[in-house]
Amino acid sequence: MTVQSTSDPSHLAYTSGTLTLHVDFPTIAYSPEFQIFHCIHQVSGSDAGSTWYCDGFAAAHHLKREYPKAFRILSEYKCYNRDVGTDYIAYDSICWHPILRLDRFGELEGIFLSNHMRGDRFSVKAKDELFHWYEAYYRFMRLLHDHERFLVRVKLQPGEIVVFDNLRVMHGRPEFELKNDEKRHIELIYCDTDSVYANARSLASAK
Ligand SMILES: [Fe+2]
Repeated sequence: MTVQSTSDPSHLAYTSGTLTLHVDFPTIAYSPEFQIFHCIHQVSGSDAGSTWYCDGFAAAHHLKREYPKAFRILSEYKCYNRDVGTDYIAYDSICWHPILRLDRFGELEGIFLSNHMRGDRFSVKAKDELFHWYEAYYRFMRLLHDHERFLVRVKLQPGEIVVFDNLRVMHGRPEFELKNDEKRHIELIYCDTDSVYANARSLASAK
């Protein structure tokens, strides 16, 4: 998948505007676990074109310690996520996920949060539950954007690659200026956990 800022974007990612911290593809049932950014072109300026990365699991565990009720609410109620548009082909992806997905032992398994893909439907039964959900969501978003604790800012240079767990490490970017002849071009590659570890074992045993 190519992410390149253009003057005629078909998706928010293809603008030069701010993208708040998110995971990719909360709009499908089997969201990819591994994500690779490969920088092809980058804009000038010391921080321009940089990306935020946030350890969402560290922030969620902090939330669980400090605000257990908020953690419980975000893991119990599901949100409606939707991405609709045209990018090579027309698509309309919809999926329901809790912001914090737990496994059957109650351990955090993945984060499914993308504010720009979150719809206006919730699995709540009463209006006051929605109020508590937004309160919990606000606390978590505040933690995620805590630059001192959970967030780093990295500017990739052409040829550089970063690999991260899409369902743990959230990413976003501050707005940047796109000058006349410059472009910011990142190639994205998604892999599932099974194929990555299968290849890693194969490479290890070939030594
Ligand atoms: Fe993204």
